[in-house]
Amino acid sequence: MQQVNDIRRLRALLKAQAAAGRTIGFVPTMGHLHEGHLSLVRRAATQADFVVVSIFVNPLQFDRQDDLDAYPRTLEQDARLLETVGVNLLYAPEPESFYPCEPALLTRIEVPGITERLEGASRPGHFSGVATVVNRLFNLIQPDIAFFGEKDFQQLRMIEKMVEDLALPVSIMSEPTVREADGLALSSRNTRLSDTERQIAPRLHQTLTKIVEVIRLGGRDFRKLEAKGVELLQNAGFSVDYLEICRSADLQPGEPGDADLIVLVAAWLGSTRLIDNVKVRGQDLAPLLHWHDGCLNSHRPSPIIGSDVLNRGS
Ligand code: PAF
Repeated sequence: MQQVNDIRRLRALLKAQAAAGRTIGFVPTMGHLHEGHLSLVRRAATQADFVVVSIFVNPLQFDRQDDLDAYPRTLEQDARLLETVGVNLLYAPEPESFYPCEPALLTRIEVPGITERLEGASRPGHFSGVATVVNRLFNLIQPDIAFFGEKDFQQLRMIEKMVEDLALPVSIMSEPTVREADGLALSSRNTRLSDTERQIAPRLHQTLTKIVEVIRLGGRDFRKLEAKGVELLQNAGFSVDYLEICRSADLQPGEPGDADLIVLVAAWLGSTRLIDNVKVRGQDLAPLLHWHDGCLNSHRPSPIIGSDVLNRGS
């Protein structure tokens, strides 16, 4: 694996690969790598001839200075991990020299619509910062395929839209969230949890799973389910930024009758902010909708499902 931090050297190396007819797969990261990142890299290695990973803690996407300062930087350890999974090139630019000018003067990318709610509402400027850095990285690396995790589902949807809107010549592929045995989604922020918080943290995924179970069984009062989920999390010790049942395609509030849904949550445990999501695909709903013939047309909430499933084990 080669490692570069200089833009000119990066471009020269990648030009040679493109000239040799090799396809380039790209996994952008902010480092402190875990199995979630490695699953993206492994996938990239199966899809492209030459795999590039970037590690850059992008200041533009942090809405709080303390969060940026506390973000773990573990470049040497990350480089050793990447050696084991078939990465060809690690691009780890110096924070001071990555952008050509100071943030206030920098050209920014805004992706309207998909970014205004959920994370966008809780973290002003975050998505513009992500879109701006990803666009710059795409221009520098010119990948054929780029890989993103589904844990940051709104980010994934935003990148897909940016690529479409700007006609960027790159395909976007995603990989499912990788979880600990107890369900907690892997995240670079998990190492900030205290022992007690770490024990509580899996409740986030458990709550989403319960909501999904109720929806699969026919529960259609989404707003009530969201309120119940927030209550469960608050009782467990979380402070909830949002918990929403949305349409998977555009992340607008889900309504009975929508086929592909996703339940998304962001919540604080002490000073650590965790996000997670679980999908409910239309095909998972089909047997029940078929069984309750009338539900398909009337979208009436199923009479058999209340909040019992959510109450169980809470
Ligand atoms: O998902 C991340 O780690 C970051 O948002 C990304 C895509 C690397 C941009 O900094």
